[in-house]
Amino acid sequence: MDFITILYYVIILIISYTLTKTLLLHKLRNLPPTPFPTLPIIGHLHLLKSSDSNPIHRALSQISSRYGPIVFLQLGSRPTLLVSSASAAEDCLHHNDVIFANRPRLIGNKILAYESTTMLWAPYGPLWRTHRRIASTEILSPHRINLLAHIRADEVVQLVKGIFVKGRDQAVDMKTVLVELTNNVMMRTIAGKRIHGEEEGSEFSTRFKMILNELVTSGGAFTMVDFLPWLKWVGVEKMAERKWMKIFVKLDKFLQDLVEETRKGLEKEGGSEGQNRNLIQVLLELKKTNPDYATDTIIKGLVEILLLAGTETSASTMEWALALLIKNPHVHQKAKEEIDAYVGYDRLIEESDLAHIPYIHYIINETLRMYPVTPILLPHESTDDCVVGGYKIPKGTMLQVNIWAIHNDPKVWDEPLVFKPERFEGVTGDRIGYKFMPFGSGRRACPGEHLATRLIGLTLASVIQCFEFEAQEVDMKEGVGLSMRKKNSLKATFRPRKELAHLLTQM
Ligand code: HEM
Repeated sequence: MDFITILYYVIILIISYTLTKTLLLHKLRNLPPTPFPTLPIIGHLHLLKSSDSNPIHRALSQISSRYGPIVFLQLGSRPTLLVSSASAAEDCLHHNDVIFANRPRLIGNKILAYESTTMLWAPYGPLWRTHRRIASTEILSPHRINLLAHIRADEVVQLVKGIFVKGRDQAVDMKTVLVELTNNVMMRTIAGKRIHGEEEGSEFSTRFKMILNELVTSGGAFTMVDFLPWLKWVGVEKMAERKWMKIFVKLDKFLQDLVEETRKGLEKEGGSEGQNRNLIQVLLELKKTNPDYATDTIIKGLVEILLLAGTETSASTMEWALALLIKNPHVHQKAKEEIDAYVGYDRLIEESDLAHIPYIHYIINETLRMYPVTPILLPHESTDDCVVGGYKIPKGTMLQVNIWAIHNDPKVWDEPLVFKPERFEGVTGDRIGYKFMPFGSGRRACPGEHLATRLIGLTLASVIQCFEFEAQEVDMKEGVGLSMRKKNSLKATFRPRKELAHLLTQM
């Protein structure tokens, strides 16, 4: 056989494979619509082309506009369900909540997430259930969140002071100061220590920042081997593992040092009581009643996830919200008037005031609608066959819910591109069905929602109460990657409001 004949047979084989797979088998199995063609080996991976101007949630949204709100993708070896309507999301996260409560096993998590045992990546089962029980009773319960209110209040005052000193003469890089705020709040909550401020330059602070930076820039949750497992035969998995191992060794040592330090403190002083107990102390005490659960590995995994999930998410949301306020002065003015009417000019706003100034909550919701920091929910995976929108979804299918597409769908939102916090007026509870779910929904929904909204609410309200702010240029470009950050950080100047100047100068 000459080369031309071989090529001819290969082409015939590829065409018959794609036709059979995409058209015939697909219809027979009652799977959702799927883009044509499904290429051999890579399937639809070639469609996931994101770029600076077209981040991945937009690329996926373009696929959905062409094939519908329920699309079946073959991402290399992974069957994937892409969902981008409220009713399909409800089918997945409510009607089939238990079936989709699993997470896919991803290679990076074998190393970086302690063999996928952290709350975020643990498979649906007894360990994950214990994580969530402990989180909802000991870590993120309303009671503990209230006990630790003094940390948030103190850190927000430090932020206001910092802006007061810097913001008049020079533009403040909001990304930097907001990440510093959330890092300090989370680390004080977890280990009773600050990272920034007087700690700046200390060995502890430098190590933390270096490790966090390496983790964030390590390339996200997925790697090519997750979709093309045969790549491990050519050494690609080993290469990635070596890279992750280097980061993991530093991360694990850092977290182990934190645990040891806290353990020694507890042995020496017996620990602190009530509001002064930090999270690691709480977890080490839990060892007495849950020895199998509260192992050092589990504690380190929990601390890692809380630091990763609880810092950038809130900081990015606050940065988007401030940018939106600068671009929409009428909203800024209305928020200011609401705060002034309730709090007056003789004291700074406190967390307990937030329940009485609902407009701030609408601003947060509207920001999360337009710019959800997790535009595509974390991946879920089905543990059984199920039905979504009338289509059959096989066991072992990865689920990607594009909440950005749902939040910006003109069929369910009036003028979705317009920043209109008023649309949340009169909404009771935190959600409007499945058309708004920045924190996910169902069993795997975010357990940090209340902590996040408290901190975001207090910070925004404090900045609005104390300052007039503006920026020379506010661009709303989205960065690339799985989390939706601003591409260029917001740089704003701040003038103390004259009504509040007497309080600010006394700080
Ligand atoms: C604006 C702030 C935040 C947003 C928008 C957000 C959003 C989300 C989303 C969309 C998920 C995935 C839900 C799913 O897979 O269906 C998630 C999971 C999670 N979040 Fe958050 N989050 C925020 C802040 C926080 C904070 C402050 C914490 C903790 C201190 C936290 C801890 C977690 C954890 C542990 C999970 C994994 C839950 C599980 O798999 O069982 N998040 N978050």
